[in-house]
Amino acid sequence: MVTPEQITPPMSGDRAREIAASFDLRALPPDFLANPFPVYAALREHDPVRRMPDGSLFLTRHADLMAVYRDAALFSSDKHVEFAPKYNVPPFGSDTAPAPLYEHHTTSLVFNDPPLHTRVRKLIMGALTRRAIADMEPGLVALVDSLLDRIEDQGGGDLIEDFAAAIPVEIIGNLLGVPHAERAPLRDWSLAILGALEPVPTPAQHAAGNRSVTEMLAYLRGLVAERRRHPGDPERDVLTRLIQGEASGEKLSEVELLQNCIFLLNAGHETTTNLIGNGLVLMHEHPAAREDLLSDLCAHAGQIETLEAILSRAVDECLRFESSNQLGNRRALQAAQVGGVDLSAGALVTLCIGAANRDPAVFPDPDRLDLRREPNRHLAFGFGIHQCAGLSLARLEGRIAIGRFLRRFPRFELSAPPERGGRARFRGFLGAPFRIG
Ligand code: HEM
Repeated sequence: MVTPEQITPPMSGDRAREIAASFDLRALPPDFLANPFPVYAALREHDPVRRMPDGSLFLTRHADLMAVYRDAALFSSDKHVEFAPKYNVPPFGSDTAPAPLYEHHTTSLVFNDPPLHTRVRKLIMGALTRRAIADMEPGLVALVDSLLDRIEDQGGGDLIEDFAAAIPVEIIGNLLGVPHAERAPLRDWSLAILGALEPVPTPAQHAAGNRSVTEMLAYLRGLVAERRRHPGDPERDVLTRLIQGEASGEKLSEVELLQNCIFLLNAGHETTTNLIGNGLVLMHEHPAAREDLLSDLCAHAGQIETLEAILSRAVDECLRFESSNQLGNRRALQAAQVGGVDLSAGALVTLCIGAANRDPAVFPDPDRLDLRREPNRHLAFGFGIHQCAGLSLARLEGRIAIGRFLRRFPRFELSAPPERGGRARFRGFLGAPFRIG
């Protein structure tokens, strides 16, 4: 089965120039979501620091993204200015009564600068140590194997619903100590809140996102109250750590605590689902690469460290090739230059991770899925002070999920075309029916 991703006809120079010159993130061409990579290539080649009709800049070169990531003092992550007109719109909110989505995003660490960002990040990182992550491995293996057993009994299923989406919800639920019976709504809340981050959310996306923040806050108030009564081990339990604050006595306010729990539940959810789902769909679309991977795994059976290295390379290549998170944003605090283009103070900048990860200046033969690629300086987890706090956990989930799936069902096949999530920012599938082969 051939998916649109595989049909990338060569583009003439004139056509590429035309595409670059008319690119507007707020009015994307109809086939963009199926395969944005030719558009990214046209932009990288002909207009790598593109000024869009709304005045913001869209960056597609790896070196330009790195320059922005490296200078967090100049390129702010704080979204108060940018998100006020986006979210505080009737009937959802106003300047005097901010919308739930506005309060949520402007309080989460990822959309803040130091000092709030530093305080929250330190607390989270303290509970995501190497040891804490290594301790999660046996439970993760057991979970993945139980999902694979069920799939085997059924002779197949849906890669997303029956496998990819079922893993992060448990891992992130464990991290925050959400009781098993209460995890069911987490995925829909997460999809709705992140869905409203699209460049131009629809009224339905606004409504679902605001409703989900409100419901999640109500739920977390109860969870936090319970954990205050019965604290967990702060070395392992992120929620207890966030509640207790640092040893220095610095605590998060109630709003900071609740909103950052929402962020954490969401951050580790759809992104990791998409890593696993995109990775497995790629294995289907690139049978030669899959065969090479399987033969590498077979040749080193029993050599734990080598197997881990083989799978790590494969997972990182999937992250590069089909990054779960395609776009990031910053705002210039002062007049500056990026890639030779002048920016005024206050200019908004979109960092196109998906394009930087196919930049031929950094990745030889960038449109080839090379599961043995090394080095692989992809930016799927961002870079700099906001680099993903959960990257080791995400990589572990990717290795265990993709590795065990492939070893159990090396000849699996999609039985219908996979259904795209329909988002520009978060790239993944909603469904991908398959049989085990
Ligand atoms: C494949 C899976 C994942 C991908 C692709 C991903 C991607 C990213 C990216 C690109 C950023 C940086 C945003 C920016 O620079 O503005 C980020 C930040 C973050 N991610 Fe992830 N993420 C993944 C999984 C996870 C997991 C499993 C967790 C939680 C355990 C997590 C927690 C976070 C946190 C807390 C931040 C904010 C860091 C900060 O602002 O300092 N992520 N992630």
